[in-house]
Amino acid sequence: MFDGAFKSLPTKPKAISKDSYRERQQRFLSQYDVGDLIIVSSLPEATRSNDVHYPYRSSSDMLYMCGWSDPEATLLFYHDEGKWVTHLFVQPKDTLMEIWEGRRPGVEGALKDWPVNQASPSDELIDYLEQLLEDAVRVHVRTGINTLIDSIVMQAVEKRDRKRQHFGTGPISIEDPSRRIAEMRLRKSEEEIEQMRYAAEVSSKAHALAMAASKDGIHEFQIQSIIEGFFVYGGTSGWAYPSIVGCGENATILHYTVNNAPCQSDEIILIDAGAEYEGYAADITRSWPIGGSFSEAQREIYEIVLEAQEKAIDACRVGNPYNMPHEVACRTLAEGLIRLGIITQSLEQALDFETGDLRKWYMHNTGHWLGLDVHDVGTYKPDGTPRLLEAGMVLTVEPGLYFGAWRPDVDCPERYANIGIRIEDDVLVTEGDPDVLTASCPKTIADIERIVGSL
Ligand code: GLY
Ligand code: MN
Ligand code: MN
Repeated sequence: MFDGAFKSLPTKPKAISKDSYRERQQRFLSQYDVGDLIIVSSLPEATRSNDVHYPYRSSSDMLYMCGWSDPEATLLFYHDEGKWVTHLFVQPKDTLMEIWEGRRPGVEGALKDWPVNQASPSDELIDYLEQLLEDAVRVHVRTGINTLIDSIVMQAVEKRDRKRQHFGTGPISIEDPSRRIAEMRLRKSEEEIEQMRYAAEVSSKAHALAMAASKDGIHEFQIQSIIEGFFVYGGTSGWAYPSIVGCGENATILHYTVNNAPCQSDEIILIDAGAEYEGYAADITRSWPIGGSFSEAQREIYEIVLEAQEKAIDACRVGNPYNMPHEVACRTLAEGLIRLGIITQSLEQALDFETGDLRKWYMHNTGHWLGLDVHDVGTYKPDGTPRLLEAGMVLTVEPGLYFGAWRPDVDCPERYANIGIRIEDDVLVTEGDPDVLTASCPKTIADIERIVGSL
């Protein structure tokens, strides 16, 4: 019986403290030197149509480095009199704009409540930057985020030869700092994990609510509205990526987002949806029969995927290569499909990347890093070899099997026609057992059959 998602919201965690951002900045800056100018840009606002914008979401590196989430912000790090300066340019206070669009912290608010030691209005950025570029030796900026900043930096570097010849100053190189930030973002702090846990718990409840609301004839978009409505009800900023809500054959389309079909009780619905809280993403997939009872064929496939997922989660341990969960999941899925007679190759043949039959029914990876981005940053093979998992890393574990009867490229076994199952959880690597942040989301066949349709 459904226990009522609305009655038991998790407690919100404390916000990430100013001291933690400061410590983060110090760690980042310890990799740089006098003469380095580091620019962290926010994404520009994007027009949806005419004078309507998409809801604003800043760049994850900006959020990570100082937590500033409003548009038109730029963060600079540079040396002044032997000390690092953290300088944030923000939209200034403006009564008329605030009447129309909402209150702004402005320069004063930024100085008081954000982890920076200088703040200025955004319209002073360009002049200031041009000055700093006169003296900078190395400029660190991720190009492609803010084209105005890119062009100013490019011009400064182009002028460098003459300047250097005459005055011995001016930037000589442009580097991308995002790889260093990514290395830091890959390892989550306790405070970050608490934000992620909140996103995960609200998302888990949203999926449970969707299960409870499932019934014959409901449309995919109606279930979508329940899930996404609950994300907002739970105090998150909404979805972290567009929700995938696919019933019947749509469950076999990996990134289906049309979400407009009616659902029938004998069909599987696959929902891949997660909320974003304080910039941090959850990423959950559950698959269940709309009518609440798995058919024999659906159960056979579900059990294989669940076994693969549980074994893959167990492989999320310190010291294991990041791709071990994928290897474990593939092996378990292939063994299961051989048992059912869907694959007639040997296990080793089935697993072959080029010629194996597993790829017909399982064509994606088993997971990815998760954090401020749903497909979070961090190289998987830093020196060409798989990275070893460390405590504090968070990754998804999401094996699946997809029998699209509509596909012209395969002979889909009729018994399994249009069964699409993916099961996805968010896993924190710890010194001990893997910590499944989405553990409260129903997953066993017994739990799912108990909850579906119980609202
Ligand atoms: N939601 C996208 C993914 O699972 O990777
Ligand atoms: Mn995922
Ligand atoms: Mn997902």
